[in-house]
Amino acid sequence: MDNEETYLQSLISKRKIVRNYVGSKKNYPELKTIAKYAIKIPTAGFSRGIEIIHVSEKQNIELLAKYSNEDIYVEKGYEKWISKSVSLFLIIINVDAYHKRYNEIDKITSKKSTDWETPYWYVDAGAAMMNCMLLIEEAGLRSGFLGSHNMSNDKIKKHLSIPDEYLLLGFITAGVENESKNNTKTRKKRKIVHNEYFSK
Ligand SMILES: Cc1cc2nc3c(=O)[nH]c(=O)nc-3n(C[C@H](O)[C@H](O)[C@H](O)COP(=O)(O)O)c2cc1C
Repeated sequence: MDNEETYLQSLISKRKIVRNYVGSKKNYPELKTIAKYAIKIPTAGFSRGIEIIHVSEKQNIELLAKYSNEDIYVEKGYEKWISKSVSLFLIIINVDAYHKRYNEIDKITSKKSTDWETPYWYVDAGAAMMNCMLLIEEAGLRSGFLGSHNMSNDKIKKHLSIPDEYLLLGFITAGVENESKNNTKTRKKRKIVHNEYFSK
């Protein structure tokens, strides 16, 4: 039927950022392979400067929740979020991999990676983030995203032994939605898809 959504269309339509989890103690073996598939992204010049750390041990998640300033979040009146996740996926960016790649002989005539208007490492990191979220939804869990602007990045890097020069994009969270919480947004949506030409 013409109006029927495909599996991927339906997965994309149903995905939304979910921050209310019930704190499940169940094991989710399907989460173990998510990073492997989420990292299957194109990277500029095949620089391969995006990496993912999957964290699933309860005590590690709890410590990372602390380093993600969950207490400040809770003080603002929200429910615990990061510590109630069953898994966290941290996307990390090795900017140097891009600079090294674009200094190689076949890229010598390309615009220098230090002069890019749109640094492609952020593009590639976003692609991995989206893959990760959709794979979490496919596994029957709900995904969220906490950006690194809300985290104590130095503490997280130290705890997870991430090299200093890497950038953190943020945590993709996976959890079981607490459906008793109302997650409906009321924010007004403006038109952001255009047909042929930009139109208001
Ligand atoms: C790059 C990026 C950073 C974000 N950072 C945060 C964050 O730090 N904390 C948070 O609660 N939500 C964060 N979000 C989620 C958005 O605030 C918002 O929930 C999302 O755009 C709603 O998407 P949805 O309607 O598809 O669920 C972030 C989203 C993106 C893409």
